[in-house]
Amino acid sequence: MQITVIGTGYVGLVGGACLAEIGHQVTCVDKDAKKVQTLLDGGLPIYEPGLDEVVPKNVEVGRLHFTTDLQSAVRSAEAVYIAVGTPPGADGGADLTAVEAVAAGIADAIERYTVVIVKSTVPVGTCDRVRDIIASRTETDFDVVSNPEFLREGVAVPDFLDPDRIVIGVPSDRAREVLERINAPLLEKGAALFVMDVRSSELTKYASNSMLATRISFMNEIAKLCDRVGADVEHVRAGMGSDSRIGPAFLRAGVGYGGSCFPKDVQALLRTAGSAGVELQVLDAVERANELQKHYLVDRIITELGPSLEGKRIALWGLSFKPDTDDMRQAPSLTIVERLVQAGATVMVTDPVSEHTAAGELDTSATFMADPYAAVEGADALLLVTEWSQYQDPDWARVASLMRGERVYDGRNLYTPDEVMAAGLQYAGVGRGR
Ligand SMILES: NC(=O)c1ccc[n+]([C@@H]2O[C@H](COP(=O)([O-])OP(=O)(O)OC[C@H]3O[C@@H](n4cnc5c(N)ncnc54)[C@H](O)[C@@H]3O)[C@@H](O)[C@H]2O)c1
Repeated sequence: MQITVIGTGYVGLVGGACLAEIGHQVTCVDKDAKKVQTLLDGGLPIYEPGLDEVVPKNVEVGRLHFTTDLQSAVRSAEAVYIAVGTPPGADGGADLTAVEAVAAGIADAIERYTVVIVKSTVPVGTCDRVRDIIASRTETDFDVVSNPEFLREGVAVPDFLDPDRIVIGVPSDRAREVLERINAPLLEKGAALFVMDVRSSELTKYASNSMLATRISFMNEIAKLCDRVGADVEHVRAGMGSDSRIGPAFLRAGVGYGGSCFPKDVQALLRTAGSAGVELQVLDAVERANELQKHYLVDRIITELGPSLEGKRIALWGLSFKPDTDDMRQAPSLTIVERLVQAGATVMVTDPVSEHTAAGELDTSATFMADPYAAVEGADALLLVTEWSQYQDPDWARVASLMRGERVYDGRNLYTPDEVMAAGLQYAGVGRGR
């Protein structure tokens, strides 16, 4: 099928390349000419494992194309995906400027029945709004479908090609048939298809992300309690997660959730609920708990090394909001570095791939070091923020010999305390009761 994907970011580029991979003719459109040029030149504008295989392969066989020309790309397509950003607006709700602009562009281009598929995460009612915008500008027949994306950065390519489920909110059988044809290779592989009305589909995405955020904030609060009462949240987590009613996913305590999705989606759902006159008290607390959590280990560092951190040197391992991505949006490291710098510390940071994305975001007084061991040289404390595999099993004797102090703060409960302490270092995790 001839498909156009508008927005060539984490979702659009992965989605476009994977739709080509399963046999479709795909054109990816972006208004960012630099991004498109990078792709036309054979480069990749983002770091995402697997993209370096799936993009060149499908470009080579002629199934994947890139352009800034929305009009011609949309005109030739049977289905058009909207995968532009929906960042938080000033009021916490989703900023739909890009979605609305693209809807108008699609309306001005279509010349035959077209299925417009909203893949961006959008508040309930947005697909109706997209439909109204298009209908106000064209006589051509079309449908607007909600098809939220559940991929995870870092494993986005396998997630797209082998999803647990595909959710579609469809206004007509005709649109449903198109979505089933697009996704046929994935459905044949065993993905479950959930077909529903458009509004339920839009809400499914927000409810899913909010549930995951809730589990994280819940465990972070349990971890705080563990620290106070001398329990180990890692044991509690294992004991809880083995209950089939609970399951093991998203029960890890840490320095709080971040990224381009959870924080903004929780906020947007709160906003939607507020507009509908419904108070989501649990979700409200989830967000507040997460903001506090970003400060949990910094507070401990300040208590143990401060109150002033003047003259103290802190090494920080991992900047991106999670491993295997260069995405720095809402990364807890931003808050953590800012607080440490404010308290007077000299902060040395490292990350396997995020130097370029962190550059514009991170407090400028932090110094980037490519080598994690160089970062700990002369440090009074090491703080692990992102659990990249590169930091999983460090040479603790080497770390200890390079550091000036001996404190290791494990913001992801990645390490075995005994192994750290065997090198003569002191260990503090999140909820490890020590
Ligand atoms: N990143 C994720 O892990 C993830 C997962 C699921 C859903 N989502 C949702 O998918 C959507 C996209 O997220 P993302 O992370 O890919 O965003 P992104 O910022 O990486 O990419 C968005 C792209 O859209 C382009 N764009 C903006 N306006 C445009 C326009 N008028 N015409 C053409 N291109 C335009 C931007 O230049 C950018 O390249 C969001 O709604 C997000 O909530 C993201």
